[in-house]
Amino acid sequence: MTAASIWGIGQALPERVITNADLEKMVSTSDEWITTRTGIKERRQAGPHQTTSSLSIQAARQALEMAGLTAKDLDLIICSTISPDMPLPATAAFIQSGLGAPSCCAFDLAAACSGFLFGMTVAEQFIATGKARHVLVVGAELLSRYIDYSDRATCVIFGDGVAAGVLGPATAPSGILATEMHTDGAFADHLYIPAGGTRKPATCETVKKREHYIKMRGNELFKVAVRSMEEVARRVLEKASMCPGDIDLFIPHQANQRIADAVRVRLNVPAEKVYSNISRIGNTSSASIPICLDECVRGGRIQKGDLILMASFGAGVTWGAVLMRW
Ligand SMILES: CC(C)(COP(=O)(O)OP(=O)(O)OC[C@H]1O[C@@H](n2cnc3c(N)ncnc32)[C@H](O)[C@@H]1OP(=O)(O)O)[C@@H](O)C(=O)NCCC(=O)NCCS
Repeated sequence: MTAASIWGIGQALPERVITNADLEKMVSTSDEWITTRTGIKERRQAGPHQTTSSLSIQAARQALEMAGLTAKDLDLIICSTISPDMPLPATAAFIQSGLGAPSCCAFDLAAACSGFLFGMTVAEQFIATGKARHVLVVGAELLSRYIDYSDRATCVIFGDGVAAGVLGPATAPSGILATEMHTDGAFADHLYIPAGGTRKPATCETVKKREHYIKMRGNELFKVAVRSMEEVARRVLEKASMCPGDIDLFIPHQANQRIADAVRVRLNVPAEKVYSNISRIGNTSSASIPICLDECVRGGRIQKGDLILMASFGAGVTWGAVLMRW
């Protein structure tokens, strides 16, 4: 079996910044409340001309360039998104045609904030079995299109952003060492969009009742998030016969700074080994981990040979982890 690694990474963020001060003018909230409860200071919001696929194409081009490949070299595109361009067809199809990768298969994956790590795990299987050599995995979210800017429980948390990674066969000792993917649908009502699907198709009534926006039970999610991220982090480390002390960098899903801190303390990882950009970017769901990765690689925070632990959790609920040697 061939091990897989990330050959290139890239990101694309919308230019428009929404600060906590901006949100203070929209809902009953304060910079102090948002900062102490979440660690978020600002987040991005896409303009009307931008789409999930248009930002994905920008991020993918950067990732391909770093990988030393062109779109024609891709065998598979996996787009992780819960905020697609359209319900049909898959956003991955728009990315494929926009990039000019005519012969490669492309599909979407819906695992919310765990989507990029799930996508990496799927890509790894294709590479390991020889079914694909070069796989583009995109984490892409324009969550602002699904946010109710009159709901203070959600509008302060989520932001827009996209990042993409190109995976290919690894050269030892680099590569993915262990992965974990989990789902528990019993918690589906903790984070969801009630209408717009087959259960509740769009009607004037669903629009009037604001049922096309994200609803969240933040308090309950918080506990599940801390428990599940610690558990998967430990599992991938065990699989690779390693311990938290071996990690050079821990990138948790940027859901809430307090969640990341709680997981870090439970794992006994020092603060300087944990990456965080939540104050600038907010929670971008499946784009959050690859945006961090891109910043770390381009900023020199990740060096060749470093042991990287990534752990996520999100709607579904889903949770997962990837342990890799860079
Ligand atoms: C959402 C979250 C920040 C709320 O923090 P919390 O400490 O749990 O706060 P609570 O929900 O208990 O609310 C406390 C109070 O603040 C209020 N509040 C909620 N949002 C607020 C806001 N933006 N500004 C000011 N007050 C707010 C609540 O109405 C509540 O008021 P009450 O006590 O008068 O009823 C936190 O629960 C969280 O981050 N959960 C995880 C969410 C998450 O990660 N989601 C993404 C998953 S990928």
